[in-house]
Amino acid sequence: MNRATAIAHPNIAFIKYWGQADAALHLPANPSISMVLDCLQTRTTVGFVEGLREDEVIIDGVAASAAARVRVGEHLDRVRALAGSALRARVRSENNFAAGAGLASSASAFAALTLAATAALGLQLSLEQLSALARLGSGSACRSVPAGFVEWTVRPDRSSAAHSIAPPDHWALCDCIALVSTRQKRVSSIDGHRAAPSSPLYAARVQDAARQVPACRTAIERRDLAALGRIMERDAVMMHAVAMTSDPPVYYRMPETMRVVQAVVDWRATGLPVYYTIDAGPNVHCLCEAAHCDEMQRRLGLLPGVQQVLVAGPGNGARLTDDHLL
Ligand code: DP6
Repeated sequence: MNRATAIAHPNIAFIKYWGQADAALHLPANPSISMVLDCLQTRTTVGFVEGLREDEVIIDGVAASAAARVRVGEHLDRVRALAGSALRARVRSENNFAAGAGLASSASAFAALTLAATAALGLQLSLEQLSALARLGSGSACRSVPAGFVEWTVRPDRSSAAHSIAPPDHWALCDCIALVSTRQKRVSSIDGHRAAPSSPLYAARVQDAARQVPACRTAIERRDLAALGRIMERDAVMMHAVAMTSDPPVYYRMPETMRVVQAVVDWRATGLPVYYTIDAGPNVHCLCEAAHCDEMQRRLGLLPGVQQVLVAGPGNGARLTDDHLL
C-alpha cells in the first residue's frame, strides 16, 4: 500500500472569502487573510491500494456521507491525474473538534487530504502547488497549507494560492472560540458562496475587503490588535450582511451568538482588548493577546449559552507524520 499521513489545522479568516470569481476553479472574489489555529487539528491517512474498486472514506470513525465521499473522491481524482495513477484509496480522517459547525473543518480536512494523498503517490509539490491544489477541494483549505498568518491571493494569470505573511511565533495572538452550537450548519459555505452575488451589498463588500487587505497585513506585521480588530469585525459584519441579504437569505448567527458579540463589545469598552469574528456558523471567535487569554476564557465560559470555550494560537502549516490511522 502507498500510504501517507498528514496533519493540518483549520484557520480563522480576519478578512473573509465569501463569494467566488470562478466557481469551477475555486477562485475567490476577493483576497483574504487568516491565522492557522494550532490546537484544532485534522489527521488524515490516505492509502492507495491495488485492487480496491472504490475509494473508502471514514471520518471520525464513521463512513462518510455520500456527498462527502463524492467530494473527497473528486479531490483524489485531481491527485491521481497529477500522478498518473488509477489506484483507489482508503481514507481515514480524525478531527479533535466538532466538524461542520463553522470551525472550518473543510479547510483542515482538504489541506491534510491534499498533502497525504500527494505524498502517498510519491508526488513532491512545492508549498504553493500544494496550497493551489488544496484550494480546489475547499477554498479556505489553501490557507491551511502554509504556517502562521496567511494571505490568499489571485494573480493576474488567475493562478491562486496562499502564502505565509508571518510565522506562528511572530505574534502570540489567542483565538478564544465560544461554542454556542456544534450542530452541523444548515447552509453549507458552498451554497453561501453561490448565493452571495445576489445580495445588493455583495459588490461593495468585495471591493472593501480587497481594499482592507494591505491594512490588515500591516496590522499583523506591526502586531497592532486594535487595527486588526477594527478591520476584522467590520468584515465579519459585512460578510453576514451579504449572507442575510442574499437570495435565498442565509442566517448563521443565533441569539447566543449576538450575546457573545455584545459581551465582547462591552468588555472592550471597559478596557479588555478583545475583538470578534464569526465564520459561516453561530460560534464566535474572540481574538486577544496571549496575556488576556485566561481572563477571556473565564469570562466567555460564564456567559449563558456558551457550551465550551476552545483556545488556539497561531499554528503550523500542513505536515507529514508517521502516526498513521491505517
Ligand atoms: C466563512 O472554504 O468552506 O469560513 O470553497 O466552498 O469549501 P468552499 O468554502 P469554504 O468557505 C469559507 C468561508 C468562511 C470565510 C473564510 O474562511 O474565509
